Amino acid sequence: MRIILLGPPGAGKGTQAKTLTTKLNLPHISTGNILRQNVSSATDLGKQAKGYMDKGVLVPDNLVTQMLLERLKAPDTTRGFILDGYPRNLNQARKLDCALEQKGMAVDLVFYLDTSEPIIIQRLTGRLVCKTCGTNFHIKNMPPKIDRVCDNCGGKLTQRSDDKEKTIKARLEVYKKAVLPLIRHYEAKGKLQRIISDKPQDTVLNKILQCVEKYNDSLKV
Ligand code: AP5
Repeated sequence: MRIILLGPPGAGKGTQAKTLTTKLNLPHISTGNILRQNVSSATDLGKQAKGYMDKGVLVPDNLVTQMLLERLKAPDTTRGFILDGYPRNLNQARKLDCALEQKGMAVDLVFYLDTSEPIIIQRLTGRLVCKTCGTNFHIKNMPPKIDRVCDNCGGKLTQRSDDKEKTIKARLEVYKKAVLPLIRHYEAKGKLQRIISDKPQDTVLNKILQCVEKYNDSLKV
């Protein structure tokens, strides 16, 4: 199954993907995570992407698309994937459609995690991420058992460099400009499922899983 998680920064795409990857046995592919790994390893891609990411704007489509299509060639994607952070605009969506079509495939479900702005700011300004395993925590909503230590692997929890209020606002503006055409694109294909993501993590997860189940049932008929 090929799933896309769409939504503003802080909607919970990464958080939900982390659980869904285990529940559905599909790889979690986050373009943000791949870019951050490239930045920290100072690869050519990372050096090119860093300036854009620090400003909270999109890395050019050609760079991100090439990186994503390379990742989609890996054998772990044959059963499907959970895409988080791609596509970000209509051009990227079309590129993805085209790449999948060439393999006789298509996106199955697109979850639009709809979240209000005050919640986004609260979530992102309090987010902590494990440097080792990438698990997300939140100072208030999901605090680790030990201060700044990952419950999963004992790694160090840090704040993302783009989680400063000014950069969050820039990321939100970029998102708002691009999201409507994307929503229309997937609505027209009958793929879009809107999920209210202001709710607790488990509520959001259960809604997503219900839709997945319904979709799978519809394929059996
Ligand atoms: P990216 O890493 O994709 O960031 P983003 O889209 O801004 O999304 P976030 O990772 O900030 O939020 P999320 O929805 O995953 O929320 P999370 O689950 O962490 O992109 C970063 C940058 O890379 C971009 O700005 C751009 O420069 C570049 N980039 C990436 N992809 C690109 C592309 N395709 N094209 C061009 N450029 C690209 O949750 C947030 C917090 O809330 C956490 O602390 C979590 O614990 C908490 N939380 C989550 N869910 C809940 C809940 N239900 N209740 C309470 N708290 C919750």
